[in-house]
Amino acid sequence: MSYTIRVNGHSHVLDTSADMPLLWVLRDILGMTGTKFGCGIAQCGACTVHLDGAPVRSCVLPVSEVGDRRVTTIEAIGDTENGKRTQDAWLAVDVVQCGYCQSGQIMAATALLNRTPAPTDRDIDAAMSGNICRCATYVRIRAAIKQAATGNVEAAQVVPLVARGGRP
Ligand code: FES
Ligand code: FES
Repeated sequence: MSYTIRVNGHSHVLDTSADMPLLWVLRDILGMTGTKFGCGIAQCGACTVHLDGAPVRSCVLPVSEVGDRRVTTIEAIGDTENGKRTQDAWLAVDVVQCGYCQSGQIMAATALLNRTPAPTDRDIDAAMSGNICRCATYVRIRAAIKQAATGNVEAAQVVPLVARGGRP
């Protein structure tokens, strides 16, 4: 079947099966490897992308169901206002450890800010609970989201490096 999807502002015509997951399309056909494969069953969040600004698990989304909704991936999230704020905060707080989950974390966090500009701790927990980080960067993720929302480094309550469990 032929499908046309719009990714990061560009249209792509695909000749593929209806049930191919969007994640496969992004990584294997379009060569956009920023979005990661983790579990493949919608349980970890590593594959999170946006459809019209809302987060979806691309590992379980058939390409045939994308339709005319705008797909945004980690490669272009920095071109959006909230995506830029989120990425800047991630760097300022130094969130990343191994990095594997972080594309999905940033996409989930940006989607949260899109719908809730000043999230509470409860909002953050609810929005981020489905994004697993095996390096347990959760405290820094929460701090970075607060910084992105407020623009205030102090509000982020950045965890001192010495408290990060041995990371040099
Ligand atoms: S790879 Fe999609 S949720 Fe884990
Ligand atoms: S930073 Fe390593 S899995 Fe999240």
